[in-house]
Amino acid sequence: MGGKTIVVGISGASGALYARRLLELLAADKRVAGVPLVVSSGGMRLLKEELHIAPKDLAQLPAALVGRAAAKKFEHLHNADIGASLASGSYPTDGMVIIPCSMGTLGAIANGLSDNLMRRAADVHLKEGRPLLVCWRDTPLNTIHLANALRVARAGGVNFPISPGYYFGARNLDELVTQFCCRVLARLGLPQERQRQWKGAGG
Ligand SMILES: Cc1cc2nc3c(=O)[nH]c(=O)nc-3n(C[C@H](O)[C@H](O)[C@H](O)COP(=O)(O)O)c2cc1C
Repeated sequence: MGGKTIVVGISGASGALYARRLLELLAADKRVAGVPLVVSSGGMRLLKEELHIAPKDLAQLPAALVGRAAAKKFEHLHNADIGASLASGSYPTDGMVIIPCSMGTLGAIANGLSDNLMRRAADVHLKEGRPLLVCWRDTPLNTIHLANALRVARAGGVNFPISPGYYFGARNLDELVTQFCCRVLARLGLPQERQRQWKGAGG
């Protein structure tokens, strides 16, 4: 019996730490069999700026993010390859997350541009009625961002802005990032043992 296939997109919004943690959780999750990964050129720039990944190592994605041993179930697909598997609704997946999602990519999805593999795969998830989570990040938001987020929601996508909860008393950034990523995976039907649950006041 095959496990789940979860597509991950990394675009050029701030928050590379979230992408790496999500991939680490997917790598460790035995329910997940495959993770096609698409990184935009903005995403590549982000990995260099925020995680200090050297250009020669960026050519070794996803090993550069999760390590060689964990990288086995991942497949890095080139964003320019609009003929890759993910471009067709006939390729079965169980959902897609774009983390972080730039406002540029959000706008492209909202308007059905499909002009690179990440945007086309997002479009496919919407048209096939499969989960699409867009973990966008920017602040403040203008009316164009808000209208695009609404369009994506109306098409069936889930706006999942990078906005971690502070009520669990996370002691550091690492815990905040992990808890946020656990919420993302729970939304995809992959609840994590590490996810803390609010039990009410004093709980
Ligand atoms: C270090 C860095 C941080 C950025 N942060 C954001 C951000 O938080 N949100 C955003 O919408 N764009 C951000 N941008 C701009 C996008 O990367 C840029 O608009 C890019 O064209 C988006 O294209 P993509 O979605 O195909 O990656 C950032 C760019 C850089 C280099």
